[in-house]
Amino acid sequence: MNEFEPKIIGFLCNWCSYAGADLAGVSRFQYPANIRIIRIPCSGRVNHLFIMRALYDGADGVLISGCHPGDCHYQTGNYYARRILEIFKNLLYFTGIPQNRLKLAWVSASEGAQFSKLVTEITDDVKELGENEEFRAVRKDIEEFCNEQ
Ligand code: FES
Repeated sequence: MNEFEPKIIGFLCNWCSYAGADLAGVSRFQYPANIRIIRIPCSGRVNHLFIMRALYDGADGVLISGCHPGDCHYQTGNYYARRILEIFKNLLYFTGIPQNRLKLAWVSASEGAQFSKLVTEITDDVKELGENEEFRAVRKDIEEFCNEQ
């Protein structure tokens, strides 16, 4: 029997986390191949629609990663990201979707090992949650609603 392999979308800021992921690769740190990375200019660029779209399109988990507080290339982008994610997690709570499907973490360009650990953690968490059935059900409802119109 095949083990469930979650699909995780990672939104990584260009200046720190993406470079940290690159360092993990160059340094040959092992991490699960479940993550699909999308490079964004800053973690503050992420909004609710990015996360919703990723989950709606079949992601089982979403990672948002940026520079450490105080290190954002655009000064305050990561503070906005932190607030946005906190609000979004509360929204998920009301919809019944487990909050563990989302993770926000800070990874600097020199933290390749940290990035590898982070991907391993979120992959394990999402494996424990199982497939993103909750959002598939929402998607099915929306498609049925649209077909009726
Ligand atoms: Fe990295 Fe803003 S540039 S979080």
